[in-house]
Parts: sequence; structure tokens; C-alpha cells
Amino acid sequence: MSNKFDDIMRSARALEPELRQIREHFHRHPELSGEEYHTSEEISRRLEAAGCEIMDLGLDTGVVARLPGKPGEPVIALRADIDALPLTERTGLPYESESSGLMHACGHDAHISWGLGAALILASMEDRPPGEIRFLFQPSEEKTSGARVLVDAGALRGVDYVFGGHNKPDLPSGVVGISEGYLMASSGRFSFRVVGKGGHGAIPHLTIDPMPAVGSIISGIQSIVARNVNPLDSAVISVGAIHSGTAGNIIPPDAEIAGTMRSFRPEVGDLIETRLRDLVNGAAATHGCSVEWLALERGVSAVNNHPEATRIARASVSDLLGEEKIVEAVPVMASEDFSVYQERVPGCFLWIGSGHPDRLDGPGWHHPEFAADPDCIPVGAAILASAAVGAMTRTVE
Ligand code: NI
Repeated sequence: MSNKFDDIMRSARALEPELRQIREHFHRHPELSGEEYHTSEEISRRLEAAGCEIMDLGLDTGVVARLPGKPGEPVIALRADIDALPLTERTGLPYESESSGLMHACGHDAHISWGLGAALILASMEDRPPGEIRFLFQPSEEKTSGARVLVDAGALRGVDYVFGGHNKPDLPSGVVGISEGYLMASSGRFSFRVVGKGGHGAIPHLTIDPMPAVGSIISGIQSIVARNVNPLDSAVISVGAIHSGTAGNIIPPDAEIAGTMRSFRPEVGDLIETRLRDLVNGAAATHGCSVEWLALERGVSAVNNHPEATRIARASVSDLLGEEKIVEAVPVMASEDFSVYQERVPGCFLWIGSGHPDRLDGPGWHHPEFAADPDCIPVGAAILASAAVGAMTRTVE
């Protein structure tokens, strides 16, 4: 058993120069969510060259491909997200972005190279287990909309397990965070307008000033997490934008507020939504204002690692890298649409260390100086390949 994993690691090491080049190519040519045209074309070309079959699912961007397997054998999906961000890169790397104002600032360039690396490793594996391996190169993760597109197009048809990972700059390359249960939060967003009546800043009694309402709403919102959510649950509500007013001596007629809400358990999301609506409406009414709700929406569900998929991933990574390279994955309240696959199929999402050991406190995701450590490239590819092999052999056993 374990020699299969040794073969995978050997193969990843042999492919390292090519995988680094692949990563650098995609890093140079970032594309925004939903616009990953060159990226998708290049991924397809390389997958075909590796011997994979591209599945025609009618996608605009993104690629789904497979290494076919025998009927009746397990089908394992490996997911890599491929989109970049609207940010001007300041890494100074020799392979810095060549597209002005666009950057692979979340390390999805590394994820692409992991996915392609896994395809290359598995395609050339002599005693590859007989099941199908499905590669999901997903667009629009940054908008948490691409997974839904792939699922609706049938990308998960017949799939038994799904695995994926995100680079993690505060974990050194070669170390992997794995844990069962919640890893990333469900998301939600809200925006509303507090409507009063404007007028002269020195004659407030003839106005309905929305500002006192805004003040009590903003401080009141935090009481939802502090006083309504069970202290043993996790939740975040952040107000990120307030727009109102034009001058210091004018009482504005209204104010717009927008924010984000995160939680793990769906019941906590429900509670936040209900309390938020009541609290905002109540606080506004107290100050004589009305509320126009512009949005109060739930986004993707939480990334929740399935026990069996997690067991498979842990055992495979342990066989590949050794138990000492596995740490308990620390959950974060950011969101990821990998959860959309997990709603359908047992899946496990891993933290794949991408930090240089000397710079673990360096710039993080979505920062103009962020870049995944190149040493994570072969390891990430080997991890995905191992998860696929592990899932098949362990399911068959
Ligand atoms: Ni990301």
C-alpha cells in the first residue's frame, strides 16, 4: 500500500520543474472570476496532453475532465479553483502578473498546478486503481458561484468522494491541516437604507435625523453575536460600509449600511438573520426612521468535512508525508464554495501549507505581496493524487 504513495511522491518530485513552470505561467496570466478563458483553454490543453478526457458540460469557463475508470468502481473528484482578484501585484517576483490590476492573490495559481500535477501523476501511474478520477477546475470561487455552476452542469454525476485544498501561508510547505467537521463558515450579506428626513444641521427638530439610528444599529448589531448566539457557537457580523451625507451642516435624509455575516451551523445563520432584521427595524423606529431592506441573503453553506472523507484524506496524507506532517486544521470564518460539493457528496477540504518556513507571518491571502511558497507545488499535487488513490483503495477494501 504505502509504496503507491512513495511512487506518487517520486513522480511529483520528478515533475517539480514542470509544475513550477505551470504555476508561474498561470501566475503571470491571472483572470477574474467568470473570465477565466485563457486559463481554461490552457488547462484543457495540458489535461488532454496528459491523457485526460475533457467532459463537454457546456461551461463558459472552468474545465471538467476525467481519467476514465471501470464501471462499478468508485469515482473520485479532485477540485482546484482557478480565478484571480482585482489587485495590483507588488511581490516583485520574476513571474509577477503581466495583467495590470489583476493578481493571483489567493494562490489559485498554485491550486491549478496542484490539479494539473495530480492529473499528470495519476495519468502516468502504472498500477493506478481502476476507478475514474474526475478533475474539477472551478471558475469563480472568489464570487462563491462557480461550484454551483459545475454541479448544475453535472460535474458531480456518479462521484463518490470529493477532495480539495487551499494553500495556507501560515503553515509551512509540506505540512497539512486536516480536521473533521466545520472548517470554513457559511456566508451572508445584508444592506439596508435608514430613511429619515433631511434638513439644516442647526435645526434638527424639524428633521428626522438618521444618524442616531445608525449609531445605535451599529453598536446593537454586535450584541447579536455577544448576547443572542450561544457562546459555544461561532459567528461574525461585520459592518463594512456606511454611506450618508454630504456636508457637516446638513442632516442627510438617509443612510445606507452594508455588511457581512458568517457562521458555521445553519441554525445560527437563521438566528442572526432574524435578530438582525428585528434589531435594525426596531432601532430605526425608536428614532422615528423607517428601513428599506436592500439585501438580507444567505450565501454558500459552511465547509464541513465529512468523517469518512476526512479519515481517507488523513490516512492518505499520512502514508504520503508521514503522520508528523499532519496538524489539526484550524477553522476560519472566511467562506468557500467547496461546501456546494459537500452538500452532494462526502468531501474533505484540506489546508495545504504554502508558507516559507522563515516567513509564516508574511502577507496573507488577498494581499498585493502574497505568493504561495513554490515548495508547496509538488507536495500539493501529490496530496491530491494520494487522496484519490486512497479513496479508491480504501473504498474497494
Ligand atoms: Ni482562495
